[in-house]
Order: sequence, then C-alpha cells, then structure tokens
Amino acid sequence: MSKFSHLRRTLIGGALSLALAPLSTLAVAAEPIVIKFSHVVAQDTPKGKGADKFKELAEKYTNGAVKVEVYPNSTLYKDKEEVEALQLGAVQMLAPSLSKFGPLGVREFEVFDLPYIFDSYEALHKVTKGPVGQQLLDKLEPRGIKGLAYWDNGFKALSANTPIRTPADLRGKKLRIQSSKVLEEQMREVRALPQVMAFSEVYQALQTGVVDGTENTLSNYFTQKVHEVQKHMTISDHGYIGYVVITNKRFWDGLPAEVRSQLDKAMDEATDYANQIAKEENDQMLEAVRASGRTEIHMLSDEERAAFIKALLPVHKKMESRVGAATIKSIYEATGFDPGKF
Ligand code: LMR
Repeated sequence: MSKFSHLRRTLIGGALSLALAPLSTLAVAAEPIVIKFSHVVAQDTPKGKGADKFKELAEKYTNGAVKVEVYPNSTLYKDKEEVEALQLGAVQMLAPSLSKFGPLGVREFEVFDLPYIFDSYEALHKVTKGPVGQQLLDKLEPRGIKGLAYWDNGFKALSANTPIRTPADLRGKKLRIQSSKVLEEQMREVRALPQVMAFSEVYQALQTGVVDGTENTLSNYFTQKVHEVQKHMTISDHGYIGYVVITNKRFWDGLPAEVRSQLDKAMDEATDYANQIAKEENDQMLEAVRASGRTEIHMLSDEERAAFIKALLPVHKKMESRVGAATIKSIYEATGFDPGKF
C-alpha cells in the first residue's frame, strides 16, 4: 500500500475508483493543501532563498498535494501583523527573526541579540543545532506555535551618515532596531536612541532622516538598498540575526501524517540549504555594497573591536532579568563563551 494511501483517503473520502490514481492527479482533483509562507525580506537573501527551496521540495515530495505560496518583502504582512496572521490562521508559515519573539510572549529568544555572544557560525550552531536550541523551540508550543527549524542569516554591521569607529560615534544617534528589549538596551548602552520600526519602513525612514542609522546583515542592507541612503557602514559583527521557521501548531498537527513527514523532510533539506548559503550570500552582498561605491565601508581593527566589546558586554548582565540568567548561562556553556576573558 502506498504511503500516501491515508492522504488519498483523506483527500477523496476513500473513493475506490480514484484510490489507485497517481497522487498528482488526486491532488489537483481534490484541491491541494495550501501553505502561505509570508516573510519580510527580499527573495534574494538567505531567508528568501530558503523559503523558495522549501516550496520547491515540499511540492515535489508531496507530488503537489501541498502547494506553498511564498510572499516575500512584506507583500502580505509586515513584522507585527504576520505573527497575528499566523495565530489567526491567515498564513501557515513564517520565519521571523529571533529578535521578534518577545511580542509572542517568549522573551528568551532575545538572548540571541546579546552583543558579541557568538563569535562565529560554528559557535552559533552549537546552540541552534543542540539541546539549548531545542529547549527554546519547545517554549513556543504552549503559545500554539510550532518551531520547525533555525535558519541562519549572519552577523550585523552598523550604518549611519557619519563614520562609526568607536562606540562614542553612536552617541545621540537615532538608530532603527527590531522589536527586542535586548537591542534597545544595547543601543542605550552606547547612549544612542533606539527606535523600533518594521523592516519594511527602514529605507524610507533613513532616506527622510526619521532615523540616523541602523544595524543589519549585509544581505538585508544590500537587497533593501539601504547602502544608497547611508554614507558609512562599519563591519562590526557585533550581533547575530537569524530565524525560526514557525507554523501554527493546530494546522501542523491537523495535517495527514504522510504529508507532515514529507514536509519535515523538505524542511530539513531547505534548512541545510539556507544555512549553507547564508555566509556566502552575506559575503557576496558586502562586495556588492562595496562595488556600488555609495557607502564607505570600515572594517574594525582589533583594537576598535575590543573597544566595542568592552562597551557592549555589560548588556549581558543587565538583560538577565529579560532573557533569564539560566538561558544566558546555557549559551555560554554550549559555546564556551567566557565574558571574563574581555
Ligand atoms: C530586520 O531588521 O527586521 C530583519 O531582521 C528582517 C529579517 O527578517 O531579516
């Protein structure tokens, strides 16, 4: 008996004449299950490409019984609305950045925002591919959300219209951040003025001077054309941006088991793909920003980097009450990070 037999029964109510037909025919006849996957970044980014890869594999592995519609670039919903849409069932899949889970009531994900807590993708993967990462995903379930995978983006740069060489260069600047209390504290620590703003509004806010600067990965900077409206960019690697792919738990649990297992397979492979390309994409986009000649790029020297670390490290202690001292400790232990070393 085919592993899709249960699906066939589900889709066609056990009609015997159709039970032996190819699944692709049945799927068309019986209306595919639609997964709307909404996200806020461009298609040509690690997350955008990961979502497109998931679509390709999910449709292939289910022989078209599942149709994935990807809506990039906030075309369907902006940051805050997309989470509400998922909870209401208007979309079935999202991949918000780890900085955007606070409003969902799971503040612990903001631990990923702590400045300089990861010094490489390898260190990060010790968390996202290990028990600590899984324990964090488990915290989503009581909220009706299932965390399916961690997807990488990369390490952040800082930008403004004046050079940023020292933490003091950020003083008094209005800087756009994502909706994370840890990021808010990070900016306050250097006496900048953090402004929470949806991703889709950043370009215009910078262009019109509503904010002076921001932080992001190179793939996000380049694809949103932010380098066209910022004269200076500093490769500080002071923090990490990544994602959790999430789905509505009720929707996921309600899928026929055969479909769910094929989607799990598609998600595992799309995750490997997204994580493999993330660093390369960001490296390429750094070169693209450089080649544009629109913004001056500064790489921090070892001494300058040490000054940023010294200035920002107190955020770890201050944010214990927000993300939990135990959460921070579990990450230090997983990665071997030692704040005492600085
Ligand atoms: C942001 O700055 O809001 C980004 O992290 C968006 C994203 O999903 O990468």
